[in-house]
Amino acid sequence: MNTVLFVIAAYLVGSVSFALVFSKIFGLADPRTYGSGNPGATNVLRSGNKLAALLTLLGDAAKGWFAVWMAFHFGPDFQLNETGIAMVCVAVFLGHLFPVFARFKGGKGVATALGVLLGISPWLGLLVLATWLCVAVLTRYSSLSALIAAILAPIYYGLLYGFNLYFMAIVVMSAFLISRHWKNIGNLLSGKESKIGSKKKAG
Ligand code: G3P
Repeated sequence: MNTVLFVIAAYLVGSVSFALVFSKIFGLADPRTYGSGNPGATNVLRSGNKLAALLTLLGDAAKGWFAVWMAFHFGPDFQLNETGIAMVCVAVFLGHLFPVFARFKGGKGVATALGVLLGISPWLGLLVLATWLCVAVLTRYSSLSALIAAILAPIYYGLLYGFNLYFMAIVVMSAFLISRHWKNIGNLLSGKESKIGSKKKAG
């Protein structure tokens, strides 16, 4: 029963879209109506408001980290075992992708996944963040950076900590994250993907 409550709470936390929250606070257009249409930091940046984009990134990452941190620190007091914590990891991420507060149409999960990874292991999170940054600096494609980081995240985890339940949770998150980037993959292949900071429509 406690596991179900933790998972539902994590899903609800993940359902809070900081792209929508900060767009409203800053008086920006709904990010679902411009650019890639994705309610995420990269698309909010296309509005031209860097602070709103940064806060979106931090908020979406923080909710992932927070849910996992709560599960690790308070879960054991409520009989939450490793399976339950791994389920919390996936639940907060899926909350971002399928938010109950936005008719189940959410974002691509990059920042939230990063927060979850930081919650599982700060070193893992920093390694994945460094990977994202390296690709982003080299290519200036947010989506390509996210795709490469998503492919490498489970590999990093497996090599560092072994192939356990958290490894499986990360594989599930990476699979969803990659599937959310089909359009970006098409745009990357056809040379139509917009670069970080570009206000051009991604199509
Ligand atoms: O954070 C999502 C990013 O990987 C791609 O975003 O808006 O360019 O589709 P976007």
